[in-house]
Amino acid sequence: MTKSIIITHSYHHRNTQKIAAAIAAIMDATLVEIKEDLTLNLDEYELFGFGAGIDGGKHYPEMLAYVTTFPSVQNKKAFIFSTSATFSEKRMPGEHKALRDLLQAKGFVIVGEFGCKGFTTRSIFNWVGGANKGHPNVDDLINAERFAERIKLD
Ligand SMILES: Cc1cc2nc3c(=O)[nH]c(=O)nc-3n(C[C@H](O)[C@H](O)[C@H](O)COP(=O)(O)O)c2cc1C
Repeated sequence: MTKSIIITHSYHHRNTQKIAAAIAAIMDATLVEIKEDLTLNLDEYELFGFGAGIDGGKHYPEMLAYVTTFPSVQNKKAFIFSTSATFSEKRMPGEHKALRDLLQAKGFVIVGEFGCKGFTTRSIFNWVGGANKGHPNVDDLINAERFAERIKLD
């Protein structure tokens, strides 16, 4: 049985879901999306991935709210990923901070973080036909696969 699970919220253009699928294929992870009736038995998994688009400089509020409902855990690993309009390696740690802080407060050990640009038609970007067309692109998916290889369970 797989011991890795990836939990996503990806509604704008399904950008983060593409990254999640690439990572899940490498780690043979279960892939689930946040919805009202999503209940998980955390005991079944060792490694947890959390991925969503970025809204207002943080992961989507639905992701932050979902993690808030978790009980405290012990000996569980987690990784964080996102796609965003203005992604850069420099900005990513700040954009992941809210989710990272929540997960660490629950007892998760963070084993890696990944991000890339995602296509957006949000507000002003829509006036010019969207930004980051084609992202996540092939290179983004290859980078996601390399990330997954580095952090997957033995
Ligand atoms: C409501 C909303 C707010 C957003 N806020 C930000 C933001 O603060 N910073 C940013 O870089 N991108 C922002 N974006 C762009 C998305 O993060 C980006 O397009 C992402 O790839 C969408 O992921 P998804 O397709 O998985 O939902 C926003 C998009 C939406 C819909």
